[in-house]
This record gives sequence, structure tokens and C-alpha cells, in this order.
Amino acid sequence: MLKSQQDEIMPQNWYNIIPDLPEPLPPPRSEGSKNSSIELLNRIIPGELLRQEFTFNRYERIPDEVREKYQMIGRPTPLLRAVNLEKLLDYRGKIFYKYEGATITGSHKINTAIPQAFYAREEGISEVVTETGAGQWGTATALASALYGLKSKVFMVRVSYDQKPMRKAVMNVYGTEVIPSPSSETDYGRSILSQNADHPGSLGIAISEAVEYALNTGSRYMLGSVMNSVITHQSIIGLETKKQLEIEGEQPDVMIGCVGGGSNFSGFVFPFVGNSNSIEMIASTAAEVPKFRDGGYKYDFIDSAGILPKLRMYSLGAGFVPDRIYAGGLRYHGAAPALSLLVKRGTIAHDEVQENEVIDALKIFSRTQGIIAAPESGHAIASALRYIKGEKNSRKTIVINVSGHGLMDLGIFSKKVG
Ligand SMILES: Cc1ncc(COP(=O)(O)O)c(C=O)c1O
Repeated sequence: MLKSQQDEIMPQNWYNIIPDLPEPLPPPRSEGSKNSSIELLNRIIPGELLRQEFTFNRYERIPDEVREKYQMIGRPTPLLRAVNLEKLLDYRGKIFYKYEGATITGSHKINTAIPQAFYAREEGISEVVTETGAGQWGTATALASALYGLKSKVFMVRVSYDQKPMRKAVMNVYGTEVIPSPSSETDYGRSILSQNADHPGSLGIAISEAVEYALNTGSRYMLGSVMNSVITHQSIIGLETKKQLEIEGEQPDVMIGCVGGGSNFSGFVFPFVGNSNSIEMIASTAAEVPKFRDGGYKYDFIDSAGILPKLRMYSLGAGFVPDRIYAGGLRYHGAAPALSLLVKRGTIAHDEVQENEVIDALKIFSRTQGIIAAPESGHAIASALRYIKGEKNSRKTIVINVSGHGLMDLGIFSKKVG
């Protein structure tokens, strides 16, 4: 794409929803955790990220160097019309999808990995550490650290580590060390393994291991989701979508995305929340991890060990160990506080989808639009298909966020081949 076209679509600023929320966001709490939350975050994340975590600025300027890297990794990502899907479903409205799988690491996660690595480098940090579920966040961290000359380490949830060896290989190529979690590298990992040597792991456990490692070694922790600063970076998805729809002369009636910790969905819809009450927004989760349906809206820990602060959010409990579903990125017990608040107030609706339905949706999308989407994104597609089934005669414009490609996740199809 030409630079002038990129500049037209890609924003100069990220959007932060915090000052526009209908009520103040409950702050993180240290109560019950092992450390004061601010003091702890101060030790493990770059200062600029901490500032962005608590800012009331509506807009944050995207540093020039980050914008350049965004262009290098494939931003703006395409907004496409799913014409063949419309035909197959005999749908009279329009279906669009924003395709984050077009970035070179294959998902939206690179949108926040780049600025986080940039701030770390600016602050003289030499090593970063994080966790990964499906491997998408780990891959994004691996590339971003390589681009900024940082050493990196990733604790990968064991079930994904076993299911997706190629993900590990990609991270290794970028120069990152990958450790299956629970691991024997941390006190917390060792305590879990002593109770169950065959533990499948969870995102909550892997976060605890990465944070413990950061605290012990002085490296900095990269935040993959859930936190406000991450969602601010991910707002680039929604801001681009807004501009792309504007150019097409379209307005969305329905927006659908999948939710793990909530970063791609929130980044996609938050820029639309303020100026329209008429858009239906649907957060699609795994039925096996039904945080909005069965979880409570309460203060709960971000990580399983309770090292990080508590956040007010929908949560199934920090100790929740989800089924071994293929959509590893959705196996998280909670959801971002701002998103949770908007679900609680009814501004955002939710839907829960079983893995079988996701597999069918992925096949339909592949066979009509040619894209094999990520299992996580398959939830958004499945929720959209459900929605359309109930709307045969409507002409609504539906926009789906397809958060990643699934070319590294083909194993999901051997569960049920059609
Ligand atoms: C492709 C993809 N989509 C969605 C998610 C869920 O995360 P979030 O809710 O933070 O977007 C992940 C997480 O790893 C992912 O890899």
C-alpha cells in the first residue's frame, strides 16, 4: 500500500476510553495481594506504560517510530466485504470484516507489542518477559523485542506448547526463549507441578510465572491484554475501521469480536462506543470459559498466584482451569475492567460459543472468504453466523473483527473433519 493511503487510514493518536466511560472505572486494588499495586507495577513495567495505564487523556500520540513499525508489519489492516458469505447465507444486509490476521505475526497482538518494546528500549531496559496462551502474543513479543534489540523470554501455557510446536519454533527463530508453563523455573511453577506434574497450565498461571521472573531478574513484563494501556494501543483497530467505513460511506449496525482478556474486542469497539447508542456490540466468548454468563462482576486477581493487583472485572476466579479448547487465547478467567463495566451496564452484549460450532464457522468462512481464521476469531465468526440466522430479512451492516489467522492452528480441524 502507498504511504499516502496508509497515512489516510492509520490514525496519529490512540484512543483511551477511560475519560468517556459513563461512570468512573474502579481502580486496581492491592488488598489481599502480596504487594502495593502501583509499587509493583512500577517495578515490572516501563514508566511510560504505567503512565498510560492510569491516564485520563482521551488521546495518546503514537510515536513516529511506532507508526513506522506499524506500517512495516502491515498496518493499516484491510477491511473487507464478505460478499461470498452474504450470498451463502442469503443475507440482504452487508457483512464486513477487519482482518488483523494480515499483520506479519498473524494477529492483533503486535499492535501493543511494538509500543511496549519501544518504551522499554527508550528506558534502557535490556530484557522483557511475558506469557502466551495460543502463542500469538508470544510471537508478537518475540518480533517486537527483536526489532528493538531486546532479549526476551516467554512462558507458554503447556497445553498450547504441546498442541502448537510450530508456534514455539517461530518464537525461537525471532530469538526468544520459550518455556512451557507451569515450569520449574519459578517458585510458583514448582508449587503447581508438585501437586500435578501433568498440569495443562492456564494463562493465569503463566502470567504469575512471568511476573515472578521479572521481579527476580529486573527484566520488564510485557502486558498482553486486560490492562487499559494495552486496550488504548489496540484502539488502532477500531480507529482504522471507522475511517475505512467512512470512506465506503457505511455505518455499522452490529459489531462482533471475540474476548479472551478483552483487548482485540475493546480496541475494535471502544472508538464507536461514545458516539452511537444504536450500534449493537457483541462480545463472543468460549462457552467453555463463560466469564460474562457465569462469572461474577467483582474484584479478582489478574494472575493465579495473586502477585499482581486485583481488578474489578467479570471473572470465573483466578484459579479457574479451563478445558483444553484449541482457542488458547480465550482460556483466561477474567476480562478487561472497562469492557466488564460496559457489559455490566448492558452497553455491550455477550454470546458464548462451543468449540464444535466454532469449527463449523471456521470452515464456512474459509470456504467463502478464503481465510482460515484463528480459533479465537472463529468465535466472533460463529456469533455473527448465529446473529444472521435470526435476522433473515434485515439489512443491517455487520462488522466482525477477525483477530488473527489460523494457519498455525490447523490441528483444530482434526478434531472433526467435514
Ligand atoms: C488471534 C487471537 N484473538 C483473540 C485473542 C484473545 O485475546 P484478547 O481478548 O486480549 O484480544 C488472542 C489471544 O491470544 C488471539 O491470539
